[in-house]
Amino acid sequence: MLQPWFAEAKLGIFLHWGIYAVQGVGESWSFFNGNISYEDYMAQLDGFTADRYDPDAWADLFKRTGAGYAVLTTKHHDGVALWDTALSDLNVAQKSPAGRDLIGPYCDALRKHGLKVGLYFSHLDWSHPDYRSVFRAGATPPPPEKRNPFNAPAGEEDPEAWTRFLQFHRGQLKELCERYRPDLLWFDGDWERTEDQWNMAELRDQLHAWAPGVMLNSRMGKHGDYKTPEQAVPILRPDGVWEFCMTMNDAWGYRPSDTHYKTLRQIVYYFVQCISMGGNLLLDAGPKPDGTLPEEQVALLEGLGAWNRQHAEAIFPTGAGLPPGHTGHATTCSKDRKTLYVFIFDPPAGPIPFKGLRSPVESVDVLHSGEKLAWDMVGGAPWAKIPGVLWVDAPKGPAPEPAQVLRIRFTEPLTLFREETGAIEAN
Ligand code: GLC
Repeated sequence: MLQPWFAEAKLGIFLHWGIYAVQGVGESWSFFNGNISYEDYMAQLDGFTADRYDPDAWADLFKRTGAGYAVLTTKHHDGVALWDTALSDLNVAQKSPAGRDLIGPYCDALRKHGLKVGLYFSHLDWSHPDYRSVFRAGATPPPPEKRNPFNAPAGEEDPEAWTRFLQFHRGQLKELCERYRPDLLWFDGDWERTEDQWNMAELRDQLHAWAPGVMLNSRMGKHGDYKTPEQAVPILRPDGVWEFCMTMNDAWGYRPSDTHYKTLRQIVYYFVQCISMGGNLLLDAGPKPDGTLPEEQVALLEGLGAWNRQHAEAIFPTGAGLPPGHTGHATTCSKDRKTLYVFIFDPPAGPIPFKGLRSPVESVDVLHSGEKLAWDMVGGAPWAKIPGVLWVDAPKGPAPEPAQVLRIRFTEPLTLFREETGAIEAN
């Protein structure tokens, strides 16, 4: 069920925390793809200590970034639960030195800091023997020697085992809903079975009964509330409500060998791209096995937070800005449409042009400094309601890293001119 807090949040923090952090291997995919044996992968349970886990410090940091919510992996495709589920002993409370439920304290800490609680849950479970009991309906099963042992039956299909798996799947979700009352369930891993096999329509009703008002992401067939583009920022504005999820380096979980970090400039650029097209950014961090966040990730989150605080007015209470064609810069628009915010990454060499803004400008200034900027509306045919090009002088004062924001105020709610023009037949 869509909730108003979601679109207002703009920024969420994604957390992929799991036993894969112990060796720093790919989350779940590493054994599925044969890069590590299943046994060696599961042996990481022994090193998963969570002995410096301080969810209050996490929540405090996330709050400082300006995020409105966080989403933590309760169970990835490997099937290892981060809570003491009664339905399987494959959980860190029973099988790792962490020895306790890690989800409850996270939920409490987020709530204490005024953040909404998101829980990630993988539908598919490559550890559960009943999961690998059927093929995706309608698909041609691969020959036995090509079957992946984690997601496909070795021989004949066993529909009864699949029914048992669905009971287990529902059971774990019921536990999560009733124990933690999440604001958002962030699903993943629906692709190996069809929507009918998962019975997603039924699942949606069940989730609403167990956690009234819970929001659901899109990875449950057509039954989710919003879209989740991943790793590649959308080019054009997606229809409807959406959230872009992205890693800070190339890995979802903690992988110290991966030093390919995005810069703060790049992260702010992606964030601004999202909000200018009406979406959220769900920025991923990968905690270490002891529960602390890698220092590179903390530094990026702190940097993002500092920039967000300086430009909060242009980010949080706004909505999508100009559609393509009016300016080369990302923009957001105030709710009353009387203020346009323009995100400028490099100091402009001269006046900055904006096409097709119909409403008269009242003032232009630089958000962080208040520096007033002159502007000129050049050309057009005002008597025919065809606007010229608005040229705004380049700011002279020092610009904050990595971007400064111009604030253009209009005397009336902004309307746009996007028509084709031809001869002007009255002068
Ligand atoms: C993909 C991957 C998964 C990751 C997720 C995050 O679906 O399977 O490993 O957790 O993306 O969006």
